[in-house]
Amino acid sequence: MITRKSSREISMMEEAGKLLASCHKEIAKLIQPGITTKEIDEFVEGYLAKHGATAEQKGYNGYPYATCASVNDEICHGFPREEQLVEGDIVTIDMVVNLNGGLADSAWTYAVGNVDEKTKRLLEVTKESLYKGIEQAKAGSRIGDIGHAIQTYAEGEGFSVVKDFTGHGIGPTIHEDPHIPHFGEAGKGIRLKEGMVVTIEPMINEGAWQSKMDSNNWTARTTDGGRSAQYEHTIVITKEGPKILTDQENV
Ligand code: MF3
Ligand code: CO
Repeated sequence: MITRKSSREISMMEEAGKLLASCHKEIAKLIQPGITTKEIDEFVEGYLAKHGATAEQKGYNGYPYATCASVNDEICHGFPREEQLVEGDIVTIDMVVNLNGGLADSAWTYAVGNVDEKTKRLLEVTKESLYKGIEQAKAGSRIGDIGHAIQTYAEGEGFSVVKDFTGHGIGPTIHEDPHIPHFGEAGKGIRLKEGMVVTIEPMINEGAWQSKMDSNNWTARTTDGGRSAQYEHTIVITKEGPKILTDQENV
């Protein structure tokens, strides 16, 4: 069932989104060779607690951490761990903030020190593909318009789109209807309506799009060992168009 949120629900999610965006800006300052994803995870839990919020992912379907931390060939749902990040790595930090019952979800890929040119391009294209998807998220458009925009752009740049994980409706729980694939055909799928709150979160690979599951039954990684990046925002469909609730420019 697809729900449309009340203005009260949307403003609660907006507050959660602002806190999440500010948390990502703090993480950006911490990322450097030598830091561990466990330290980042602990930082996030503390930061959210200090601001009266909690990490909604912790305990969700048994997921054990506040954040997902996916390094290099890990696509998503990587476990934070005690291994140090090294220069040239990339790491995607994904989290869902719960502030007074309002949820927001945003993932960001960070470069650790200097990364090679191909990796730089992977990050640029992945981020740009997110914004190309968001542009399509207007009342009256169809879900396929979002995926089509993302896929056409990312594949045109020589990268591939992960097909096993999608964006989703969000609030009052993390994953709600509808699914938002990051690939597809324009003009297909259900119509977007004012008041719907969804995530768009393309995972883009430098090599093949296929994924395989780790033995922890959570972490997905590329089958060919190529790198994978991801940027995710939570957005609300408004009369005026898509509004990003997790925008880092506004905090
Ligand atoms: N933030 C993730 C998403 O974008 C949700 C991960 S659920 C978890 O869909 F349990 F892995 F945390
Ligand atoms: Co997420």
